[in-house]
Amino acid sequence: MDIVNKKLKKFVDALPIPEILKPLRKYKDESYYKVQMTEFRQKLHRDLRPTRLWGYNGQFPGPVIDVQRGEPTHVKWENKLPDKHFLPIDKSFHNLEKLPEVRTVTHLHGSQSKPESDGYPEAWFTRNFRDTGPQFKNKVYHYPNHQRGATLWYHDHAMGITRLNVYAGLAGMYIIRDEREERLNLPSEEYEIPLIMMDRSFQDNGELFYPSQPDDPQENWPNPSIRPFFIGETNLVNGKIWPYVEVEPRKYRFRILNAANTRTYQLFLDSGQSFYQIGSDGGLMRKTVKLDNLAVEPAERLDVIIDFSKHEGETVTLKNDLGPDADPDDETGDVMQFKVTLPLTSVDRSRIPRYLTRIPSLSENKVQRIRNLKLVGSTDKLGRPLLLLDNKKWMDPVTETPELGSTEIWSMINVTNFTHPIHIHLIQFQIVDRQPFDLNRYNQDGTINFTGPAKPPHPNEKSWKDTVAAPAGQITRVIASFGPFPGDYVWHCHILEHEDYDMMRPMKVIETDKWE
Ligand code: C2O
Ligand code: CU
Ligand code: CU
Repeated sequence: MDIVNKKLKKFVDALPIPEILKPLRKYKDESYYKVQMTEFRQKLHRDLRPTRLWGYNGQFPGPVIDVQRGEPTHVKWENKLPDKHFLPIDKSFHNLEKLPEVRTVTHLHGSQSKPESDGYPEAWFTRNFRDTGPQFKNKVYHYPNHQRGATLWYHDHAMGITRLNVYAGLAGMYIIRDEREERLNLPSEEYEIPLIMMDRSFQDNGELFYPSQPDDPQENWPNPSIRPFFIGETNLVNGKIWPYVEVEPRKYRFRILNAANTRTYQLFLDSGQSFYQIGSDGGLMRKTVKLDNLAVEPAERLDVIIDFSKHEGETVTLKNDLGPDADPDDETGDVMQFKVTLPLTSVDRSRIPRYLTRIPSLSENKVQRIRNLKLVGSTDKLGRPLLLLDNKKWMDPVTETPELGSTEIWSMINVTNFTHPIHIHLIQFQIVDRQPFDLNRYNQDGTINFTGPAKPPHPNEKSWKDTVAAPAGQITRVIASFGPFPGDYVWHCHILEHEDYDMMRPMKVIETDKWE
């Protein structure tokens, strides 16, 4: 397969700023939005023909939904997509051959919403709601937006095809703002920019390329057959390949989202500048953290300030560290460019505060339950790689059933050879620690022997999180209080190829009768 990116020139397209979606109407303090999923073509690079995509309201990535804390929103997510998918669907699992091919359901990642608005994978629906999944309940979703200000994102979550629906373009940002944050005098308005990163490969004709099989397919495997990962050959930010943005010599706030299927970014600036991270998945951190490198796992959000005031006239490249063993032909060590070429239009009065917000520590809570959950690699009947949570499949009965309002520690024991970004719906958790163990020994006799002490989370992880890197050969512990709503949710690995097959499990938050 010829991939066109070798010919694609870097930094020739201006970074698009996703538009902010306007509500159709306001009712009291509540807004009503209608968002349509459609197929369209969009120019992703100066030298590429417009690429066929699926997106929200004809945009890739989708429009930004921007709300104030405490202002509930109602969103009608409508499927206006064709009946045939344009990416290769493996129908050999989850009974997909019996289901309509194009199914969608939107999940607002990081949101604390009721189950019927959470985008349960089996609450899918087809074009015009003609067919609906077994868990489908309502056409209009309701988001309370009761939680603290944060950068959330919405994306497709349909069972068994999430990787393909998101790859086709079904993702967008959702911002909740609050007063606490507004008082901090952070860079705002045109100095606050979302950076939605993802990787994609292209065919010669400019169409998206997603391989129909793993790299080493066996004869007995179907075609299409799901891959255990996908790494694209180009990087896109806000829907452009290797874009640039002109900036003033002043401070900017960037809301970084890794919306890639599998890729982890290791970001740094070639000017040697630092990032000032102020926020994470669940909103502001306690304190600003100065960092030269930012690791961003799939689905993680990093809210950072970059100060260009001492770089007037310079070009600063946002790079992705591919490590010492990188293939010299790999172009994805570049992400985008900042050209500090705009004149300073006004004095920069924004600040990088040292202290940001208060975050209560969950470690004070009474822990009702500790769950040991293994992240394991296995093989399916055909000998294909199959990744599992605690050796169970999506279809197995629910086992994670925290009580409403209770605090639990989830101890994720990664016995595979790579990092899995683990995401839990409904809640924001805190990372307790990570402790390394001898993976070889585990593979020989199944015992866990620690090889070092438990390490506290990184400074920029000491905040509310909904997605955590669980590295190979380590036990990653998170603590959470389960609520505010009971019902059916999910937890999963956010490498979308893993989530689809089969690193996703139901989670049921149960109400118990206190008087019993
Ligand atoms: Cu971002 Cu369950 O997903
Ligand atoms: Cu989520
Ligand atoms: Cu995974």
